[in-house]
Amino acid sequence: MVRHLRGEANAGRMLPFVIEYQGRLVGQLTVAGITWGSMCSGHVGYWVDQAVAGRGVMPTAVALVVDHCFRTVGLHRIEVCIRPENGPSRRVVEKLGFRSEGLRPRYLHIDGAWRDHLVFALTAEEVPEGLLARWQRARSQQAHAKSPSADPGKPAHPGK
Ligand SMILES: CC(C)(COP(=O)(O)OP(=O)(O)OC[C@H]1O[C@@H](n2cnc3c(N)ncnc32)[C@H](O)[C@@H]1OP(=O)(O)O)[C@@H](O)C(=O)NCCC(=O)NCCS
Repeated sequence: MVRHLRGEANAGRMLPFVIEYQGRLVGQLTVAGITWGSMCSGHVGYWVDQAVAGRGVMPTAVALVVDHCFRTVGLHRIEVCIRPENGPSRRVVEKLGFRSEGLRPRYLHIDGAWRDHLVFALTAEEVPEGLLARWQRARSQQAHAKSPSADPGKPAHPGK
């Protein structure tokens, strides 16, 4: 597998990354199918260890990689294809503001059958401020909205 990833990376068709969280390797993210010419596009695949799922590790990793692809590598479009039943993965692209482009019927052969996939994409023009900055802003606004002091029904400093 490593040899395949290295070969594709050396050929300029793939950017393979590992994801570290608190000093431990917890997942992988790969930009594959990189096409240059008039397209300048790639698609992203990912997984993270169940032990760290639900902490925003993957949206942060995707945001970092998308910024790298648009700003350093020179790609124009990043696509993510997700099986409709994969709720957690759909949440990743929804939270990052990827545009929904519809359904590709029988798009990939997985687990012994041709599976439908939903397509989500971003182009560089859609994130002029950078995807990581946008994601971090959305995350802190969400955390602020959830904090007790942001609840208009509660006093900001209970007891005072
Ligand atoms: C999809 C995946 C990469 C998400 O990564 P993540 O770092 O957990 O992403 P997030 O922290 O943003 O969580 C995304 C959603 O997962 C769900 N989730 C939350 N806690 C979870 C947990 N402990 N275990 C599983 N899913 C959880 C929630 O629906 C969450 O959405 P929310 O933030 O609106 O609550 C990860 O679940 C995974 O590796 N799944 C298996 C491989 C896979 O499906 N890859 C994608 C193929 S397209």
